Amino acid sequence: MKKDYVTTQDFTKEELLDILQLSLLIKKTLKAGHTLNTLYHKTLGMIFEQASTRTRVSFETAMTQLGGHAQYFAPGNLQLGKHESMKDTAIVMSRLVDIIMARVIEHKTIAELAQYSQVPVLNGMSDYNHPTQEMGDIITIFEHLPEGKGLEDIKVVFVGDCTQVCASLGMMITKMGGHFVHFGPEGFQLRGDYIDSLEENCKVSGGTYLITDNAEEALKDADFVYTDVWYGLYESEMPKEERMKIFYPKYQVNKELLAKCAPNVKFMHCLPATRGEEVTDDVMDDENVSICFDEAENRLTAMRGLLVYFMGKKDEACEECNKLLGKEN
Ligand code: CP
Repeated sequence: MKKDYVTTQDFTKEELLDILQLSLLIKKTLKAGHTLNTLYHKTLGMIFEQASTRTRVSFETAMTQLGGHAQYFAPGNLQLGKHESMKDTAIVMSRLVDIIMARVIEHKTIAELAQYSQVPVLNGMSDYNHPTQEMGDIITIFEHLPEGKGLEDIKVVFVGDCTQVCASLGMMITKMGGHFVHFGPEGFQLRGDYIDSLEENCKVSGGTYLITDNAEEALKDADFVYTDVWYGLYESEMPKEERMKIFYPKYQVNKELLAKCAPNVKFMHCLPATRGEEVTDDVMDDENVSICFDEAENRLTAMRGLLVYFMGKKDEACEECNKLLGKEN
C-alpha cells in the first residue's frame, strides 16, 4: 500500500529516524563524488498554490541528482480549481507521474490529494504544518548536536509567532523525546490540536513541552533557538504595525536574547527571514551561531531521503550507497 507524508504524526520515531539516516547516507555518498540513479526515469509532479524558493528548488534538484525528473506547476498552471476538482486531478496525476508533492493554501487540500492519489503524496507546506521542513530541521539539529547530547537531551526554543513551522518543529522535537518550548505572546502561542499532538508525543517519547511568555524560563539552557516571520497562523487580519508592537523587541532574536541561552546555542530559521524584525543581521550572519544556511541546504538532504523512502527504494539506495562508500550493509 502506498504511504503519504502529510504529517509526521502518522510516523513513529523509528520510522522518522530511518528517513533521517537514509538522507544522511545519500548526502555522504553524493558529497564523496559518487553518482546515484536510484530514481532513474521516475517523475515527480510538483503542485504549488503559493510561491516557494527552497521547497521547489530542493525537490527539483533532488530528482535531478537521483536520475529522475520533476515537473513544476506554478500557482494557476493546472486546471485545478478552474474546471477540475482535486479528486479528478489526483486520479489523473497518479496515472502520469510516480510521486506528487504539493504546497497548498488549506490543509484539507493536501489531505484530499493524498486520499485520491494512487501514488505517494508529500506535503510541501499547508496552513497546518510543514513536514519536509521538519525533516530538514531534524537532520540539521542532528548534525549540530552539542557534545555529549542526543536528540532526547536537547532543548529547542521556538521564539515568536505561531507559524506552521513552529507547530511542525514542536511535533518533531517531542516525537524525538527532546524538550520543546514555544516562547511567544499570549494569543499567538501554539494551541488546540497542536497541544494534543505534543501531549501524545511526550507520553510516548518521554519528551517535554512548555508554552510560555516568560523569557528567562524559556531560554535558560536552550541548545537551539529557532524563529520565523511575524505573520503566523492567528490574527492574520491584524495590521503589521500592531503586530510589531506585540512582538518587538521582546521576541526578536538578537545577541541579548541569545545571551540567556546555553553558551554554544545555535540559531535556526526556516527562511525567508525578515532581517531586522524577527532576527538581527549580526545573529543571522554569525557563522559561530547561525546554522540557518546549513538548514536551507538540508532541505535538499531531506527531499532526497523522502523521495527515495516514499518511492520504496530505501533498501536499494542503502545497498548502492554502502557499496560506493566501500562499507558492508
Ligand atoms: N522554508 C521554506 O519552505 O521556504 P520556501 O517558502 O522558499 O519554500
